[in-house]
Amino acid sequence: MTTDIVPGTDEAGAGAARGRFPADFVWGAATAAYQIEGAAAEDGRAPSIWDTFSHTPGKVQNGDTGDVAVDHYHRYRDDVALMADLGLRAYRFSIAWPRVIPMGSGAVNPAGLDFYSRVVDELLEYGIEPMATLYHWDLPQALQDNGGWLNRETAERFADYAAVVAEALGDRVRMFSTLNEPWCSAFLGYASGVHAPGLTDLPSSLAAAHHLNLAHGLGTSALRSVLPADARVAVTLNLAYVRSASESPADVDAARAVDAVANRIFLGPILDGRYPDDVISDAAHLTDWAFVRDGDLAAINQVPDVLGVNYYSPSLVAALGPAERATLTKRWVNDPQGSDEPSIWPGSDRAYALPQDGPYTAMGWRIEPESFTELLLRVGRDHPGLPVMITENGAAFPDLVREDGRIHDQDRIAYLHGHLEAVQAAINAGVDVRGYFLWSLLDNFEWAWGYSKRFGIVHVDFDSQQRRPKDSAYWYRDVIRANGLPADDST
Ligand code: FCB
Repeated sequence: MTTDIVPGTDEAGAGAARGRFPADFVWGAATAAYQIEGAAAEDGRAPSIWDTFSHTPGKVQNGDTGDVAVDHYHRYRDDVALMADLGLRAYRFSIAWPRVIPMGSGAVNPAGLDFYSRVVDELLEYGIEPMATLYHWDLPQALQDNGGWLNRETAERFADYAAVVAEALGDRVRMFSTLNEPWCSAFLGYASGVHAPGLTDLPSSLAAAHHLNLAHGLGTSALRSVLPADARVAVTLNLAYVRSASESPADVDAARAVDAVANRIFLGPILDGRYPDDVISDAAHLTDWAFVRDGDLAAINQVPDVLGVNYYSPSLVAALGPAERATLTKRWVNDPQGSDEPSIWPGSDRAYALPQDGPYTAMGWRIEPESFTELLLRVGRDHPGLPVMITENGAAFPDLVREDGRIHDQDRIAYLHGHLEAVQAAINAGVDVRGYFLWSLLDNFEWAWGYSKRFGIVHVDFDSQQRRPKDSAYWYRDVIRANGLPADDST
């Protein structure tokens, strides 16, 4: 195991010395409630849309569900002790709305709140800073039965729930995130249908996106009315780094349209109080946007104290007609979007995600750290002065447990090293990146992929629930300890 650090230099001026991160850089790992907790029907928790979805045949690989997941609900003490062993300074987790307010509105379930209160106490005991995400996709099923994110009242109920959580935990939790990746909730949930609730209706997906924006705005106001002044409120976006396949006007316009509906449909109203003109006009054939009511944009325009950015892989986009799509899917492997699948980018009928060259992770996602730097530079350019937190970054690989019980995940270490260098490059160029949460602490339920994809730095045997830190966990511990990247990645 090595802790050698690339020799530092102050030449970067205001930025961090080479190899090192800023002195107060936050080092953490992230998880989400439905992916790890299990205990789906315990202590008053009611079903969420992901319980319904995962129990619907054909929706999740192998018919996997989060009923048991990695049993974190019962093992949280051991898991927090493990975080401390690995030297984590911060932990980003999500709160299950259907544990706290099982029907989505109305009665609060004290046992549900108590679970998170105990997790927070345990973290603080070890000096680990909690960051709580309020919505990581597990909408109470009772609210879905009332229209889910198609019903604007869901945004109001979210604000009520945010206030309840802030009252209970705000004395100890100083970092909250309203929503995780609303793009996935809206467009994978209501357009392509690969996530809960599994709908495939493009106009609905745009209404869902607006109501999610409204939930961020109303939720942030509710949090700020309860939390102490030093608390920070974030929103977490999976900003897309979009490259056009060629310089042809059609491809360039397809990339612009994807940027509109992947990024600016959220950044615009949240940061600037308006939907960009092209977001509105691109979707004019799908919706008249009548769901945007007077006062909504002012309510949504709650600038976060810190912008959470999740990044995994870049997108390559071309403008293709149906015939071209059909031939392309037959030719290429690692296709990110089948030709006959409904669009994940409503507004452009022609934008299509092309397969990209490797290297790939086990998800088939191209590994390209340079675009992470580019993405962060763009955020810094477009939104000067806005602090950024990397709220997710990491990789799935087919980890093998050796006879000695170790997992030599050198591929994950290389991915993390490259992407942390990319973050550092952005910091050195002046982007205000405050911290990094690695996805993920534990192998877990990877949504539609079930338990078939492992993102953890800690291996979990899904039968015995045994935890085993992979080599990447020890590597990350050394990075945190040194506040910098090692010269040599061998562990
Ligand atoms: C993100 C999700 C997270 C996890 C990673 C791999 O989109 O926020 O829960 O599934 O992808």
